[in-house]
Amino acid sequence: MDATDDLLGELKVFAGTWTGTGTGHYPTIADFSYEEEIDFTVMPGKPFLAYRSRTWSPGRERPMHTENGYLRRSGGAVELLVSQPTGFVEIQRGDVVDGVLDLTPLSLSRSPDAKPVHEVRRRFVVAEGALSYDLWMAHAETPLTHHLTARFQRV
Ligand code: HEM
Repeated sequence: MDATDDLLGELKVFAGTWTGTGTGHYPTIADFSYEEEIDFTVMPGKPFLAYRSRTWSPGRERPMHTENGYLRRSGGAVELLVSQPTGFVEIQRGDVVDGVLDLTPLSLSRSPDAKPVHEVRRRFVVAEGALSYDLWMAHAETPLTHHLTARFQRV
C-alpha cells in the first residue's frame, strides 16, 4: 500500500474508470435507458478522487447528462461534491460501510433557470468488482422518487 492508498482509505474501492448502462424513470416522464462512463481519478498524494460522469443515449448516439466533482474524505466521513451543467451544485455526505456509500444531501443549490428540484439522494455500491448506483429526486410536486439506477464494470 502506498501513501496515496493510505490517504484514500475507504475511497480506494471506487477508484478507476467504470462503464455501464442505466435506466431512468420518473412519474412525469417516459422511461429511458442510457450508457455511462464514470471516472473516479486518483490524484497522487491527495485524499480525494476527481469524479466525472458522462452519459449517452444507447449506442452512444448522442450525449445526455454529464456532471463533475470530487469524492473526498472529510473528517471521519465521505463527501461527494457535484456540479451539473443543468444548474445544480450538490454536497452529499455519508459513510462507506461494506462497500455501500449511502449519501445524505447537505446542500443543493440551483440556478434560477434550473428545474425545480428540491432534493437529490444518491447511493453507490461496490460489490464483487461491480459498481452500481441509485438516485432519487424530489421535483416540482413529486416527492422523493427513484429516477436512476445504473451498473458498471471496471474498464
Ligand atoms: C445519468 C444521469 C441522468 C440522465 C441520463 C438523465 C436523463 C433524463 C431524461 C432523459 C429525462 C427526460 C427528458 C427531460 O425532461 O429532459 C430527465 C428528466 C429529468 N431529470 Fe434526469 N437524468 C440524469 C440525472 C439527473 C440528475 C442528477 C438530476 C438531478 C437534478 C436530474 C433531474 C431531472 C429532472 C428535474 C427532470 C425533469 C422531470 C420532469 O420534467 O418531470 N436528472 N432526465
